[in-house]
Amino acid sequence: MKATIYEGNRTFSVIEKELEEPIKGEVRIKVAYSGVCGTDVHIYHGMMDKRVNIPVTIGHEMSGVIDALGNGVSGFSIGEKVVVRPLDDRGAKPSDKGFNHICEDLKFIGIDSPGSMQQYWNVPAFTLHKLKPETDLKLAALIEPLAVAVHDVRLSELKAGETAVVLGGGPIGLLVAMVAKETGAQVIVSEVNENRVTKAKELGLNAVNPVNIDLVEYVKAQTEGRRADVVFEVAGVQQALDVMTEIAGIRGRILMVAIHGQKKEVDLFKFFWKELKLIGARVYEKEDYEKAIDLITKNELPFEQMITEVQPLSNIQQVFEGIDNNPDGLKVLMDCQA
Ligand SMILES: NC(=O)c1ccc[n+]([C@@H]2O[C@H](COP(=O)([O-])OP(=O)(O)OC[C@H]3O[C@@H](n4cnc5c(N)ncnc54)[C@H](O)[C@@H]3O)[C@@H](O)[C@H]2O)c1
Ligand SMILES: [Zn+2]
Repeated sequence: MKATIYEGNRTFSVIEKELEEPIKGEVRIKVAYSGVCGTDVHIYHGMMDKRVNIPVTIGHEMSGVIDALGNGVSGFSIGEKVVVRPLDDRGAKPSDKGFNHICEDLKFIGIDSPGSMQQYWNVPAFTLHKLKPETDLKLAALIEPLAVAVHDVRLSELKAGETAVVLGGGPIGLLVAMVAKETGAQVIVSEVNENRVTKAKELGLNAVNPVNIDLVEYVKAQTEGRRADVVFEVAGVQQALDVMTEIAGIRGRILMVAIHGQKKEVDLFKFFWKELKLIGARVYEKEDYEKAIDLITKNELPFEQMITEVQPLSNIQQVFEGIDNNPDGLKVLMDCQA
C-alpha cells in the first residue's frame, strides 16, 4: 500500500509499505479521500514539530470504506462507508464532566497519532460514524470541517430572524456561514481576500470586504441599528478581535472558533457595556457529526463548490507547496486510491 510521510522541513515522501492487520478493537479503512486542513498546513510549515511524531502520516478530514475488522469489533461490516471522528478520548476522566471531545488528555488522531493521508488507515472502531450507502465519498471528506461548523452554530443558539456575522471566509468560515443560514438567520460574511469574497457570493452568501466598506456601519444598516446577535470569529487576527466587540449588539454572543496561539487584546469594556457573551467552541461532539453526515448526504447546500482541487496521493509535496502559493483555494482533497 501507498502512504505519505511528513519528514519535517517542509518535506513529504510517498512510500510503499505492508498492509497492516487491524489490532483488537480497530478497523482498517480503505481511505477514499483525505482533505487538507489548515492544521495540516501548519504541520507542513514546521509549527507543530514538537507535537507530531516525525516521521509520520498526517491527515484527519477523510472518508472511506471498511476493509477489515479487528477482534472484538461489532456493529460494522466490510464494505460499509464511514468517516472517522478523529478524537481519541480514552484518557477522559470524571473531572472532564462528560465533555470528552475537549477532555484534558484528548489525543487528536492525525496529529498525535498516524493520520489518513494513506491508502489504508487503521483506527479504533469507536471513532467511526457510518455513512448512508448513497453518501458521496468525495463530499464526505468535508464532514469533519462541516461538523466544526455545526458545533459552532449549535453552541451559538442562533435562531431564525437573528443576524450573524462571520469574520473570515476561509473553509471553516464559509461552512459556518452556510450552516448558520440554514437556521433562517440573516448571515453576513466579512473577508479581506477579494477572491474569497467572490467565492462566498458564488456560494449564495452575503459577503463583504471590510477593506472596502465600514463593516460596523454595514452591519448597523442591515439590522436597523441593532447590530449582530451572533459573531463568529473565524479569521484568527487582531483586526477581527477589534471589530467583533463593535459589531455585536446588546447581549450579543461571540463565538471564538479561531485558534489564537498567542494572547491578544480584546475590548473587555464592551462585554460589560452590552452584556456580551464570549463562547469558546472546539471541534465537535457525536451529534454534530451526525448532523454533518445528514447535511452532506442530502447535499442541498453548495458543498461541491468548496472542493477546489482533487489530487492523487503521490502529488502530496506539490499540493502543500501549491497551497502556500494559492491563498484563494478552499478545500484540496487527496484521492487516496488514485
Ligand atoms: N474551533 C475549532 O475546533 C477549529 C477547527 C478548525 C479550524 N479552526 C480555526 O478556525 C480558523 C479558520 O480556519 P480556516 O481553515 O478557514 O482558515 P483560513 O486561514 O483559510 O481562513 C481565515 C480567513 O480569514 C480571512 N481574514 C484575515 N483577516 C481578516 C479580517 N481582518 N477580516 C475578515 N477576514 C479576515 C483570511 O483572508 C482567510 O480567508 C483558524 O484559526 C483555524 O485554526 C478552529
Ligand atoms: Zn481539520
